Amino acid sequence: TKNTECNLLVLPGDGIGPEIIAQTLRVVSWFGEFLDVQIKTEHALVGGASIDACGYPMSDEVFSKAEAADAILFGAVGGPKWDDRPRSERPEMGILRLRKGLDLYANLRPAICFPELIGASALRPELVRGLDIMIVRESTAGVYFGEPRGISTDAQGARRAVDTQSYAEAEIARVCRLAFELARNRESRVCSVDKANVMETGALWRSVATEVGREYPDVELTHMYADNCAMQLLRGPNQFDVIVTDNLFGDILSDEAAALTGSLGLLPSATISAGRHDQRSHAVYEPIHGSAPDIAGMGIANPIATILSFAMCLRISMNEPAAAKLLEDAVRLALFNGNRTPDIAGPERDGISSDAMTDAILASL
Ligand code: NAI
Ligand code: MG
Repeated sequence: TKNTECNLLVLPGDGIGPEIIAQTLRVVSWFGEFLDVQIKTEHALVGGASIDACGYPMSDEVFSKAEAADAILFGAVGGPKWDDRPRSERPEMGILRLRKGLDLYANLRPAICFPELIGASALRPELVRGLDIMIVRESTAGVYFGEPRGISTDAQGARRAVDTQSYAEAEIARVCRLAFELARNRESRVCSVDKANVMETGALWRSVATEVGREYPDVELTHMYADNCAMQLLRGPNQFDVIVTDNLFGDILSDEAAALTGSLGLLPSATISAGRHDQRSHAVYEPIHGSAPDIAGMGIANPIATILSFAMCLRISMNEPAAAKLLEDAVRLALFNGNRTPDIAGPERDGISSDAMTDAILASL
């Protein structure tokens, strides 16, 4: 008998989503056998698959299941079939509903450069060797959600668009606190990124980050302007350990950092809610890439980003850091042994199937 239980809601989605999730579930089963945690999985529809079935990208029924789950494993959503629908009815609204509804305020995006794939980076090898950054992006507030917003037309018929960047002190403090907690298990360095020189929200961000930093005297805190950070990521990415920033800057900088590593099919993410004792915490684990309609159904999608997302689930939701490390090492060993799906194979090689890549990871385990 097992001591604890983890109810994992599995939302495969569209395109390669179901393929990479199927591979990841083989790894989930492996850990289910060996850990002291009983992993129970339940499947549900999201995105275009859900639109086709019931008209909505995420039904109330599936949202309730998400609320009740300990963790959610998400594939990817979207595809050309649903591209001409209005924005509010598109597959992507499925993930937005989860983010808002479960108050998933922090998006964690590691940018790791795998030594075996160093040639895939856009930067010189000496700049990215050993790269391991964690970007923590605030994900429920800021300019993507602020009011007022909209497009209006004046008497002369000229249009004006408005978005509002707004942050409450508490919204900044909680995401900074999380960044400091994460840094304690890494190199104990946090870089807080803002535009305090030209934005009021930036000035508040810097002030709150500094206050929270006083609670963590063991962690080094530095501040950087967002434009400089964009440049420093290219000039010397290894200077960073944990970066914490707002929704807009985090969106851009996390994509930039991922591109540095040249491995879209390899990078995981976690989006988590407050983990207070009095309330239930939620977390969604998903690859950073999309549904890749161009290769869907071919059996060649790289499952590693989703498998490493499950490693984050092991570490964060299941409190099994040793198991997470074991899985990350198994992925590295599979790469070290030369296993490559076509996206990372390079021009000289053919590449192996998703299935064969997962076989290699299971063999490494
Ligand atoms: P994408 O990430 O799906 O694909 C970009 C390129 O990378 C494609 O050539 C694809 O084949 C390749 N790729 C992506 N993941 C791969 C993997 N695991 N293995 C091998 N190759 C991989 O981005 P794209 O093409 O811009 O968007 C496609 C659809 O996905 C759109 O409908 C978009 O809205 C949606 N999307 C969904 C996201 C999500 O569910 N979180 C995130 C990003 C895009
Ligand atoms: Mg983005």
